[in-house]
Amino acid sequence: MDSILVKGNGPLSGQIPISGAKNTCLKLMTAALLSDEPLTLTNVPRLSDIKTLGALLESLGCEVALLQDGRVMALSAGEITNRKADYEMVRKLRASFNVLGPLVARAGEAVVSLPGGCAIGARKVDLHLMALEKLGAKLDLNEGYVHASAPNGLKGAVIEFPFVTVGGTENALTAATLAKGTTVIKNAAREPDTVDLAKCLSSMGAKISGAGTSEITIEGVDRLHGATHEVIPDRIELGTFMCAPAIAGGEIELIGGRRELLSAFCDKLEATGIAIEDTALGLKVSNTGGRATAVDVETAPFPGFATDLQAQMMAHLCTASGVSVLNETIFENRFMHAPELIRMGAKIDVQGGIAKVTGVEKLKGAQVMATDLRASVSLILAGLAAEGETLVSRVYHLDRGYERIEEKLGAVGASIERVKG
Ligand code: UD1
Repeated sequence: MDSILVKGNGPLSGQIPISGAKNTCLKLMTAALLSDEPLTLTNVPRLSDIKTLGALLESLGCEVALLQDGRVMALSAGEITNRKADYEMVRKLRASFNVLGPLVARAGEAVVSLPGGCAIGARKVDLHLMALEKLGAKLDLNEGYVHASAPNGLKGAVIEFPFVTVGGTENALTAATLAKGTTVIKNAAREPDTVDLAKCLSSMGAKISGAGTSEITIEGVDRLHGATHEVIPDRIELGTFMCAPAIAGGEIELIGGRRELLSAFCDKLEATGIAIEDTALGLKVSNTGGRATAVDVETAPFPGFATDLQAQMMAHLCTASGVSVLNETIFENRFMHAPELIRMGAKIDVQGGIAKVTGVEKLKGAQVMATDLRASVSLILAGLAAEGETLVSRVYHLDRGYERIEEKLGAVGASIERVKG
């Protein structure tokens, strides 16, 4: 298994291009199942998660071709030849559960493995199932699989989520596009990923209004047609690289970055003393020196502070002056980076969903282990300003979500290399 070696190397400077959004692209790919005509996605990130879902879609009969060096993906589900998404595929990637809605809507039947637990918490799917039942699907849970059937098609309904679920909203949204009549999703996710999915579905002929608000209305149509759609920039990659100069010093321009994708995160980063400026090409982040100031952070659904940026912000706050309190409200077990940061000299006290970080002057390099995607990147960020060397092992997590991270950080002056293992 590969590791990544990082050495503190002084301030960073230059530009980093932001790739297409992984989480958005995965959900857009599932939309291809809704039509017998091709869906072409551009600005596709070159990541292992994208390939994993591609393989699952191929197993269902969807042709998947990567063009232009993997930047463009052509999907064509002329015929659904298999309605079963296997455990072996779904367990690798939770987003695969989002084939359920499109499959049952288009084929009238779907058998999809339950995704199982995950390192960052229980991550249930009961609300996905509630939504599909409301749309008239008959559900049966058997041997770890959900059997969903709607031989006469789905029917529009009012679906009210008790709390925001991004995956649940998106499963309901895709399924409702082909349901008979009107569907209203209340307390819907407002994430940019969900908005982009609605935009893509609309260009395929779906009738959707209210995406980006808490209430989405979908008028079902008989069929969807082909389309070409550009994936939005990855706001989590953007926020991650914004933390790099915040931690290591210097100034970086994030090409393609947009503040509205993560304004709550930008507000908090600025409160620690980091300057953020809109430029013609994206966002410029500058840390002109001096120690950052502690801030309190509470994760929340969009437009709140993204749970996917909590670990990176914690790495930044480890060396801020004062005490920061981080409250993780989305996932119950998402502080696995804390013990590793403590190995690097951080002072962190975790009690349930709350982590208290008392800033220290400097972290020290150490051998650390990544436990999930965002945790692993937080350790790399911490290593950028630590004394000595930091060796992050198990970086296969990183390859799921960050395209060419060594190249991107290396290009702005970081000392970072992959150690083959
Ligand atoms: C979540 C994040 C999303 C992030 C993604 C990947 C939120 C609201 N969602 O999306 O921003 O990009 O992880 O890290 O921040 N839940 C249930 N039953 C369900 C579905 C969800 O109890 O059927 C719970 C989850 O366990 C969690 C919360 O609802 O505590 C939000 O989950 P959800 O938004 O569905 O998760 P993802 O779609 O994976």
